[in-house]
Amino acid sequence: MSYADVYAAWQADPEGWWMEQARRIHWHRFPRTALDASRAPLYEWFPDGLTNTCYNAVDRHVAAGHGAQAALIHDSPVTGTKRTITYAELQTQCAALAGALAARGVGKGDRVVIYMPMVPEAVVAMLACTRIGAIHSVVFGGFAADELAKRIDDAEPKAVIAGSCGIEPSRVVAYKPLLDRAIAQAAHKPDFCIVLQRDALRAEMTEGRDIDWHAALDGATPADCVWVEGNHPAYILYTSGTTGKPKGVVRPTGGHLVALNWTMKAIYDTDPGEVFWAASDVGWVVGHSYIAYAPLIHRNTSIVFEGKPVGTPDAGTYWRVIEEHGVRSFFTAPTAFRAIRREDPEAAKLAKYDISGLRALYLAGERADPDTIQWARKVLGVPVYDHWWQTETGWTIAGNPTGIEKLPVKIGSPTLPMPGYDVRILAPDGTEQPQGELGAIAIRLPLPPGTFPTLWNAEDRYREGYLSAFPGFYETGDAGMMDEDGYLWIMARTDDVINVAGHRLSTGLMEEVLATHPDVAECAVIGVRDALKGQVPMGFVCLSKGIDRPEDEIRAELVELVRDHIGPVAAFRLAVVVDRLPKTRSGKILRRTMASVADGEAVAVPATIDDPAILDEIAARVKTLGYPQG
Ligand code: COA
Ligand code: AMP
Repeated sequence: MSYADVYAAWQADPEGWWMEQARRIHWHRFPRTALDASRAPLYEWFPDGLTNTCYNAVDRHVAAGHGAQAALIHDSPVTGTKRTITYAELQTQCAALAGALAARGVGKGDRVVIYMPMVPEAVVAMLACTRIGAIHSVVFGGFAADELAKRIDDAEPKAVIAGSCGIEPSRVVAYKPLLDRAIAQAAHKPDFCIVLQRDALRAEMTEGRDIDWHAALDGATPADCVWVEGNHPAYILYTSGTTGKPKGVVRPTGGHLVALNWTMKAIYDTDPGEVFWAASDVGWVVGHSYIAYAPLIHRNTSIVFEGKPVGTPDAGTYWRVIEEHGVRSFFTAPTAFRAIRREDPEAAKLAKYDISGLRALYLAGERADPDTIQWARKVLGVPVYDHWWQTETGWTIAGNPTGIEKLPVKIGSPTLPMPGYDVRILAPDGTEQPQGELGAIAIRLPLPPGTFPTLWNAEDRYREGYLSAFPGFYETGDAGMMDEDGYLWIMARTDDVINVAGHRLSTGLMEEVLATHPDVAECAVIGVRDALKGQVPMGFVCLSKGIDRPEDEIRAELVELVRDHIGPVAAFRLAVVVDRLPKTRSGKILRRTMASVADGEAVAVPATIDDPAILDEIAARVKTLGYPQG
């Protein structure tokens, strides 16, 4: 079957098509209903089926005789260790941790926050929660205590599972003190915390609340899988939106299993038993879907890599991992390749390794610039496939379905919509844009299985933020166009979300933090184009009347403030003091215009601007920071 046949088959009978895919996972009770549209425009998939995520990702493979196959390979250049965990071992660990949680009162529907580095225990923690129907929410380790506290208050977890520390190339990051601070700050208090003590830094434990990971597992009665409804949430993953309050994307169990299972062959062209590597972090959606879940559901071996593309120890690390573990399909963000290229432009380090087992590289998480794609193609000698998706969708909206048909690659386009997605380019009035014309990228409802039916505790925000602009459609927040062959071209975000090294961040949140500085009267944060990270944040602040302090001093305080309140992941280093911000006559800050100025683009000065001369000041100040680049 060709891609066109598959897409047409889905279009002809969407529910029947997904029911067919649903047969490839294990159900305790197969669903009678594919799609529940009774609350449209809110939709749910497989609501009357009964299944379990951990069973599908682990137990069923052991039951089928694959217990000895490697499920996870932890490759950790930052600690100098490597460890393989078989499916049978994974089952034992998941059952024990699930038992430890259950014995302390965690059950179906209870939330568990996970704050861990890239260790296999993070995956065990995720799976153990799903095993007993608990809903996990993983928080990325690069976020500071305030952000963790916000997520604790929104998810209201019964338990937190944390690592004592994360290991960055330049330093050991103490996670546990951040967790303690977050819990102290949060209004909601978890009943207990399970802490994985790592040799690099052992954490102080709070008596009566904290339990050592190993002690918890050793004494536990293994828990069986609890069957949950297809629409029962498997997890909540917080992501950045326009405001400082993160959005809790809800991922229901049944659709997640069905869709991810389908993608492993159709999109990533892997067969069960093969090694798959997504070089990301379990704190992001790529890590959820393609480190923890999809490879295991599909009985692949998944690599849990604790390191960086450069500096751990060098720009050859990725090639070593690919050779050593026999990686077939490799998925990462373009920024990783930009980092490698910057350090080893000729990929000389590759000569030492045999990566002939690699079939393809898949890029996502941010715009894949043509230069990087071409370089990766040249040095790896395999096809490079861009694909576009989001935390909200959990899997590819548009990609190259290489396990069905290898479609011609157009560099700069993530290729075509996947079955399940009816993608349209809309004008502000909701009419469809002609081919080649820029517009808001929207998806006709319902979204397919594996996406999100709502936001945690925020159904109104879901309706308002995603469904209201174009009735009957999901608004992706990206702008782009479709060409004569139906290929999608993703151009920019339509909101204040920026993408820094493949990490999604809110400039609105950074503004909220800068505004707390006592000397700041007003501020704006924009994303500027960056040669390594794709984009980086840049802050513009106006000081309160009478403040006359050296700019460097203020900048250092602002950088520290963002680091302390949001975390190092914000990568906030650039800030300037300006007299005024460009605004419309009605007082709206012209952030988009500022971003164009900072990127050195031809700027269409808005007719509504209060004083166009301010843009010259902005341009001059941006230059002092070394931007625009290149
Ligand atoms: N825990 C604690 N701190 C973390 C962290 C974690 N899990 N992850 C990152 N940080 C810190 C980093 O140490 C850095 O701190 P610093 O300001 O003290 O140097 C800061 O957060 C910013 O991190 P990052 O943006 O990743 O920059 P970097 O310079 O450390 O690395 C790359 C740059 C390109 C090498 C790296 O971002 C990368 O490998 N990205 C591609 C893959 C990827 O993970 N994509 C995610 C989604 S697919
Ligand atoms: P996240 O939710 O963190 O995965 O970020 C999703 C956003 O990253 C998308 O809405 C896009 O803005 C951007 N993005 C992800 N993949 C791509 C891609 N292949 N091309 C362009 N932008 C992308």
